[in-house]
Amino acid sequence: MCGIVAYIGHREAYPVILKGLKRLEYRGYDSAGVALLNGGLKVYKKQGKVADLEETLVGKDLHSNIGIGHTRWATHGEPCDRNAHPHLSGNGKLSMIHNGIIENYVQIKKELVSKGYEFVSDTDTEVLLKFIEDIHLNNEGSLEEAVRIALKRVVGAYVIVLLDADNPDTLIAARKGSPLVIGIGKGEHFLASDASPIIEYTKEVVYVNDYEVAIIKKDELILKNLGNEKITPFITKLDLELAAIEKGGYDHFMLKEIFEQPSTIFDCLRGRLDAHNGTITMSGIQQYADQLVNANRIIIIACGTSWHAGLVAEYIFEEVTRIPVEVEYASEFRYRNPIVNKGDVIIAISQSGETADTLVAIESAKSNGAIILGVVNVVGSSIARTSHGGAYTHAGPEIGVASTKAFTGQLAVLTMMALKIGLMKGTLSEKRFIHLLNELNDVPEKVSAALLQHEKIREIALKYQDAKDALYLGRGYNFPIALEGALKLKEISYIHAEGYPAAEMKHGPIALVDENLPVVFVATKDSFHEKVLSNMQEIKARKGKVIAVVSEGDDAADALADDTIIVPYADELIAPMINVIPMQLLAYYIGVAKGFDVDKPRNLAKSVTVE
Ligand code: M6R
Repeated sequence: MCGIVAYIGHREAYPVILKGLKRLEYRGYDSAGVALLNGGLKVYKKQGKVADLEETLVGKDLHSNIGIGHTRWATHGEPCDRNAHPHLSGNGKLSMIHNGIIENYVQIKKELVSKGYEFVSDTDTEVLLKFIEDIHLNNEGSLEEAVRIALKRVVGAYVIVLLDADNPDTLIAARKGSPLVIGIGKGEHFLASDASPIIEYTKEVVYVNDYEVAIIKKDELILKNLGNEKITPFITKLDLELAAIEKGGYDHFMLKEIFEQPSTIFDCLRGRLDAHNGTITMSGIQQYADQLVNANRIIIIACGTSWHAGLVAEYIFEEVTRIPVEVEYASEFRYRNPIVNKGDVIIAISQSGETADTLVAIESAKSNGAIILGVVNVVGSSIARTSHGGAYTHAGPEIGVASTKAFTGQLAVLTMMALKIGLMKGTLSEKRFIHLLNELNDVPEKVSAALLQHEKIREIALKYQDAKDALYLGRGYNFPIALEGALKLKEISYIHAEGYPAAEMKHGPIALVDENLPVVFVATKDSFHEKVLSNMQEIKARKGKVIAVVSEGDDAADALADDTIIVPYADELIAPMINVIPMQLLAYYIGVAKGFDVDKPRNLAKSVTVE
């Protein structure tokens, strides 16, 4: 949540920062701002998107070789110019950007007010900045020291970057809980919330760790802990190409990412699944395979779409490994004193690897001695680094706020894990293992075939775009896909939608059904198929409109539905990866038809780094 960019070096800082902010806009787009040193400290900020800020700055003298920039997802204080970052200190000498939440800001603010400080914004950020300023003004030491003193008092999460008019050759940054990447160039440094603003300049980066303070000059990077001890920066090489973060001819990132799925799933399987030799190799879980085989329980923690992937995994793991699985919302798990025993294995799922609730839930489980396996998309992210082991989904950068290709990557990884453990444990027969392995191997091709339905799905979207509500139903492995379909529709088209197990519909939601209610059935052929057809009949009998995702050749389902989307048949364990494609496309086309910004839906942010 919130994107930060900063630059120091020989280039013009403003264009670097502006371009970086556009790449980070997925993290929040309530307001944007920059601070530059150009004959003194200059701060420009504006409510709205980065493009709105850019427009207001046309024709201004923005020359500076040092600067900081911010794109905001509002937490404290409404989205407006006043609450936009960067903020200014009382004496106008310091400017600061912040991603995170300072939980004890009310107490600190009280103390500052009693000393005569005034506040122009409603933000916790301005409080932290003036707190640092106050310490700095009343201490002999450097600004860096004031930052360390202040941060020892702070409760919460932050990445901060400070620009000091009195030190025009230095940026000071610090991190706890929110992400910070520093790119190392020749005589220049780039700071950002993720690597996307950095890759076109350098591939050498340092991921700053919690409780570290960075003192950055154009040709020097010093890292220290809060105790003022130096830490050697660990330089990592980025494995990311610029093309991966551009739209590549598509109207939206979301559409590009939906259509990338045959290749992202292929990339996820590649080097792990060997259909020819009948093996699955996952180096990141190899070391923990015995713990998984002997686990008393698997606890999956995640949020949002990743939580839906966890639900699918629950069905698969229980079926093939016979290990009991619990799927937990990270935000609930972390606060309810959960029972985690030795012998439990935690699987944490996250696209961004930065979701605050998931991160804290992991830390609490870890402190109880649990093994943590991460299923993460963003390489080098906080969750990836804090997990004991795990596997990357290799879906590449996901920029559309609605998660699509990361979800199918998560399912691919989790399915491989379950099959491997099931085979090792002997709860999955060799014959069924080989069958499922081949089915998994065919997923990229079947996803390509499902994508061919895009024109038909667009027509269905146009037909139902004015619906006020929608119901999504599925059973078994398809129930989480119904939940995911409803979430996608809510996020992108702002239509109220609910996902339910199809049979559960009779226990309440059926009261909603009338001739205006579209009901989306995920009704591909599986062990529950006949039952799902009965549920479809029940909706038809009440004049509901049935949109059904059905397996090719299923005339019975086709005949019952008002609108049919045909997908290739796959074994029920594997089918969710294919059946989710129409869910994604339907939401996308409805959102576009309604004229919404599908890549940046209102009120959302890609990476939820606040609780
Ligand atoms: O990065 P994570 O997978 O941890 O994010 C979890 C959720 O915030 C995320 O899936 C969210 O629900 C998406 N907007 C769904 O499209």
